[in-house]
Amino acid sequence: MLILGIESSCDETAAAVVADGRHLRSSVIASQTDLHRETGGVVPEVAARAHLRALVPTVRAALAEAACTWDDLDAIAVTSGPGLPGALVIGLNAARGLAYGRGLPLIPVDHVEAHVIANWLTGAGDPPPLPALALIVSGGHTELLLMLEDGTIERLGGTRDDAAGEAFDKVARLLDLPYPGGPPVARLAAEATVRKTRLPRAAMRGSDDFSFSGLKTAVLQMIESPAAPPAAEIAWAFQESVADVLSQKAARAAEREGVRCVLLAGGVAANARLRERMAERSPVPLFVPPPALCTDNGAMVAAAAFRHLDAAVRPESPLEITPTAARRKARSG
Ligand code: KG4
Ligand code: ZN
Repeated sequence: MLILGIESSCDETAAAVVADGRHLRSSVIASQTDLHRETGGVVPEVAARAHLRALVPTVRAALAEAACTWDDLDAIAVTSGPGLPGALVIGLNAARGLAYGRGLPLIPVDHVEAHVIANWLTGAGDPPPLPALALIVSGGHTELLLMLEDGTIERLGGTRDDAAGEAFDKVARLLDLPYPGGPPVARLAAEATVRKTRLPRAAMRGSDDFSFSGLKTAVLQMIESPAAPPAAEIAWAFQESVADVLSQKAARAAEREGVRCVLLAGGVAANARLRERMAERSPVPLFVPPPALCTDNGAMVAAAAFRHLDAAVRPESPLEITPTAARRKARSG
């Protein structure tokens, strides 16, 4: 079964063709990061217009790269949320128009779940065993989820303020590094030689929640202090703090829930130090998608749709976007 996946929730216009929810036939990503560099972050209106321009060429390129025609496709999948409303509407309506024109079923997909399902795009390898603990760390989300044996997802916790990627982006700004901040902060951190600087870790004890805004403030205070260490040492200390908190809380939750594996996903999962810390601490096997499938892409949308074929709708039926995460906390405490 061939599914075309379309993603437009933030600042990547992406399309991909995936076979049977596991095999990547193509993945094309038109990134808007150059556009948002001037403003140091995503301006929603600018993002929506850029999606409008990039969508049709991106879909065409994904079909060409997969060497498939419209007749070969079985369904079209699209991110319906969470994300920027104007950006989501562009992708949803494009997918709907294409599905209508080709008489194909349309499958709306949750963006956060799609990040998790990027771990199924391993091709020949065994798929992750369930139940699994998933940690999604991106520019918009930091979520600790439990994926049960039947594939349903429960939310254990998440950030109470900034997302992990947002923290990287904000710290990059404080250090005069370009947007998106994750890769340049990681590169600068690798240049640190002393590695003695320490920044706080918000443990949020008794919960599976996270908080990164205090850390960002601590970075600002350190930069402004008269005895500020070199920028590379600050970047290193920041990255250590984020990787330490995320890996420790994920490992504890995995132990407690008795899961069979841990799934790391989202843009920040591309961070080598976080991958290393997660692998060191995880009590069960760790799955991480290759970096190109950690950041936003259409393949994860198509792969997630394969697991929800029963959610297919007729493209002419009324459809909604869900800009904010719909998944409520599953448990108290
Ligand atoms: O998943 P994604 O592409 O978009 C959202 O759904 O938000 O994640 C983008 C985020 C950005 O905040 C970016 O700074 C961060 O992922 N990121 C990284 C790295 N690569 C991307 N953060 C840390 N280290 C990286 N290597
Ligand atoms: Zn994302």
